[in-house]
Amino acid sequence: MSLNGRSTGWKHQLGALVGLYLQNSTANVSPVQGNIGDVVWGSCSDNTTLPGAECGYAIVPLDYFNSSAGVAKIALGRYNATSTPRKGSLFVNPGGPGASGVSLATVDGGLLQQVVGEEYDIIGFDPRGIGLTEPATKCFPTPEARTAFIANTVIDRGYDVGPNLADPSNRYHLIQTQRDADALYKTQFAICGQTMGDQLRYMGTSTVTRDVDFMTTLLDGKDALINFWGFSYGTVIGQYLANMFPERIGRVIIDGVVDANAWANKPAYTWYRTWLSSTEGAYKIFFEDCAKSGPSGCALAQSSKDSATDIYNRVEDFVNKLYDEPLPVPNATIPGILTSGRARLFWIGALASPSNWPHAAEAFAAAMAGDASAVMDAVNQKELVDLERSAVSCNDNKPFALPKPEDVIDEALFVQQHVTRFGLTITISEPDSGCQYWPVTPPERYLGPWNSTTKNPILIISNTNDPATPISSGEIVHKALGNSSAFLVLNAPGHTSFAAASTCIAQNTRAFFANGTLPAKGTICQPNSGPFPEQAANSTGAIGAIGSSKALASSDDQLLASLRHIGAHILGKGRR
Ligand SMILES: *[C@@H]1O[C@H](CO)[C@@H](O)[C@H](O)[C@H]1NC(C)=O
Ligand SMILES: *[C@@H]1O[C@H](CO)[C@@H](O)[C@H](O)[C@H]1NC(C)=O
Ligand SMILES: *[C@@H]1O[C@H](CO)[C@@H](O)[C@H](O)[C@H]1NC(C)=O
Ligand SMILES: *[C@@H]1O[C@H](CO)[C@@H](O)[C@H](O)[C@H]1NC(C)=O
Ligand SMILES: *[C@@H]1O[C@H](CO)[C@@H](O)[C@H](O)[C@H]1NC(C)=O
Ligand SMILES: *[C@@H]1O[C@H](CO)[C@@H](O)[C@H](O)[C@H]1NC(C)=O
Ligand SMILES: *[C@@H]1O[C@H](CO)[C@@H](O)[C@H](O)[C@H]1NC(C)=O
Ligand SMILES: *[C@@H]1O[C@H](CO)[C@@H](O)[C@H](O)[C@H]1NC(C)=O
Repeated sequence: MSLNGRSTGWKHQLGALVGLYLQNSTANVSPVQGNIGDVVWGSCSDNTTLPGAECGYAIVPLDYFNSSAGVAKIALGRYNATSTPRKGSLFVNPGGPGASGVSLATVDGGLLQQVVGEEYDIIGFDPRGIGLTEPATKCFPTPEARTAFIANTVIDRGYDVGPNLADPSNRYHLIQTQRDADALYKTQFAICGQTMGDQLRYMGTSTVTRDVDFMTTLLDGKDALINFWGFSYGTVIGQYLANMFPERIGRVIIDGVVDANAWANKPAYTWYRTWLSSTEGAYKIFFEDCAKSGPSGCALAQSSKDSATDIYNRVEDFVNKLYDEPLPVPNATIPGILTSGRARLFWIGALASPSNWPHAAEAFAAAMAGDASAVMDAVNQKELVDLERSAVSCNDNKPFALPKPEDVIDEALFVQQHVTRFGLTITISEPDSGCQYWPVTPPERYLGPWNSTTKNPILIISNTNDPATPISSGEIVHKALGNSSAFLVLNAPGHTSFAAASTCIAQNTRAFFANGTLPAKGTICQPNSGPFPEQAANSTGAIGAIGSSKALASSDDQLLASLRHIGAHILGKGRR
């Protein structure tokens, strides 16, 4: 996920805080100024943006159901079509919730056009509450204040799960930890209610979806169709678009699919039986590929005779030992202790991004040798600066009665036992919990239906082993949309198809955006190479190496380089 735009975003937002005044008895957020419908473009302040990229904003209604509520300023980034005839705007969203679409469009717009076609204007936007969009989510006075609030609590260091799941003291310890987690969520959201008040109501996906509809009219006219390309959480926006505005759907691709129905209608602690159904698969592939690559390519392999099981056993023994004996890490950027919970957070981040597996193996091998600085630094690299993710998920999620800590932990133990050892890890790396304490009610919460008939079919892309957004979620969404969708599979581990560069996925994507061509039913793409360097003569057996034996044309080489660059932007390092 993208880290770009974070520091500039904060300077900007802190500027807006100067001269605070109380809008009402609790909130201290200045109202945004501007006339609804204004679109302003200028140059971008971020010096990593492309020549020709533009930054700006659109003024939209703060509340689509209350014209007296004021306005919101949606931060925009644009990279114009470089070929004619122009096909219109293509909105992109890199996920999170929390990542900046402005950054994706203005830094990588040219590379994105290589995939979708040069006739599209690439339009990035920071969704409500995120990045440069105003109002921003600023529950805490500074990002540092939020970091200090969570430091070394369970919502920073994760849950420590003992190796013996049947041990009653393990369950008892987890319930105690869950009581802390609940109290921390309650405290954070109380702070949020005090500092942000009603401004928090407008950050849900239903509102974001109306923004995309509204901005399509502003940029392309009232008859224009909506074109959208979303990854991970961006697939939630894509599904809301398809179901809230089915008659306006032009070309929409969702890649790395979250089941929006569960996102809106089920309490977060019940998501993970299905949502983590590919996580163990990705973890296993890591060890298989590491063993195949051997010590020259994978630092966790000690000899060419090491099997996947040998490497796996050493890693798991080390993580389990951390449960009893956390490792001091005096040399990390933020010194601390490597706990088993933090080690799991490291792994769930690493599994998302196979192109980074050789580095992840090096970092973890160093930790096993006594220096966990790189592992700690990766775990501490956080994309969120405040509660911008909760501001989305808690405005989206239907209200539920407060689950008892015992119920949350018993469900989690079921997942740990039968689905994946990362069951409790995900609740920290993807923080969507505690919504029972969310202090506001949004103007609208879209809860379905999810089976609309769209004007044009959308394209759904899932990886066979995505640790965060499994292929089963892609299948659920495809089944609900029926003929309003087509399903394309990438045979690779990792989060979203950009986790493993595939010219096949790129060609299918380009054909779809060109004229709506859908992949043949049952199409399974292969990535062009596996995550680790392979011994050349033996590459055919490696996971994901199918197709790599065929020599690539140089234009394919260039496309692959672009795909890897975009993947690094979308996935970032140490995704959290
Ligand atoms: C871009 O800005 C950053 C800080 O804002 C600075 O460290 C970096 O040197 C700049 N890069 C260029 C190429 O100007
Ligand atoms: C992008 O296109 C718009 C017209 O659609 C034009 O006004 C603007 O100047 C263009 N931007 C650049 C950088 O060429
Ligand atoms: C509309 O917004 C205004 C200004 O915030 C507020 O006073 C009013 O109560 C709102 N109306 C409704 C129906 O929510
Ligand atoms: C920390 O760095 C110091 C100085 O480079 C080194 O002597 C020490 O071994 C390091 N400690 C660990 C645990 O890596
Ligand atoms: C769509 O889903 C709703 C439930 O949300 C169901 O009542 C309806 O029959 C479904 N429509 C179709 C065409 O499947
Ligand atoms: C979907 O399309 C197929 C083939 O065009 C058709 O046979 C089928 O009836 C359609 N199903 C629905 C629910 O429209
Ligand atoms: C889409 O474009 C491709 C390549 O230009 C062409 O082969 C195909 O027939 C077109 N399909 C449609 C439905 O227009
Ligand atoms: C390839 O694998 C085979 C058996 O799996 C082994 O005998 C051979 O030495 C390997 N070749 C290289 C170049 O690593």
